[in-house]
Amino acid sequence: MKAGRSLGRDFGEVQNLQVSLKGPGDYVSQADRKAEEIIHAELSRARPGYAFLMEERGVVEGEDGQHRWIVDPLDGTTNFLHGLPMFAISIALERQGQIVAGVIYNPAMDELYTAERGGGAFLNDRRLRVAGRSKLSDCVIGTGIPHLGRGHHGNYLIELRHVMAETSGVRRIGAAALDLAYVAAGRLDGFWEDSLSPWDMAAGMLLIREAGGFVSDKAGGQDMLENGSIVAGNEAIHRALLKTVKKPLPPR
Ligand code: IPD
Ligand code: CA
Ligand code: CA
Ligand code: CA
Repeated sequence: MKAGRSLGRDFGEVQNLQVSLKGPGDYVSQADRKAEEIIHAELSRARPGYAFLMEERGVVEGEDGQHRWIVDPLDGTTNFLHGLPMFAISIALERQGQIVAGVIYNPAMDELYTAERGGGAFLNDRRLRVAGRSKLSDCVIGTGIPHLGRGHHGNYLIELRHVMAETSGVRRIGAAALDLAYVAAGRLDGFWEDSLSPWDMAAGMLLIREAGGFVSDKAGGQDMLENGSIVAGNEAIHRALLKTVKKPLPPR
């Protein structure tokens, strides 16, 4: 909450923030770093000894040996810096290699998504359930478009072409953690993206599963955090989307 308030304040004054480039099209600002510092301090105080994997600081070892926080202090930095209110904090807790809790918070909309393994997924106080549509042609699907520094543009355009042709619409919100939270909330029927990092996905994956949805990597396996690809939806849409994104380009 404290980190959310810090982001909320900085969002009102984005023009005064120091911004630097980590790579082509890949920005980091004072707001990302400040939020990460607050999250690190608060979680270290609450649970001394737990390890961290954070986007800006990287790996922080912990003596506990069982637990690790996976943190994106500001998912959707590009949106944030452009005054677009689709950004979020994403925090997951891993115990012995398994994600057991997840929180995604969008301070601009005051939406708090939470999930505990086996305990369901919630938006503020409301229990979440993935959308029930069973035909891909009725669905709105979220995605992430690779930017300047990311490869796979050729493959991505083939996938996009197929998904565009087979669905009601495609959305690019610009914050992967929110995309996944929206699948859990039934706002998006499905989602796919490549080249993501563990902090973009860890909390959202649990939210979707706890909301009754299905998540896999693009090969249909469970190595999302290792290979960075993700496909999500309810059981039928997950299966259909997986098939669609793997289709080769039709001959001309
Ligand atoms: C980015 C966002 C974006 C996704 C990128 C991520 P960041 O995270 O989630 O939607 O397409 O791949 O890197 O850098 O804003 O935390
Ligand atoms: Ca980033
Ligand atoms: Ca991110
Ligand atoms: Ca980030």
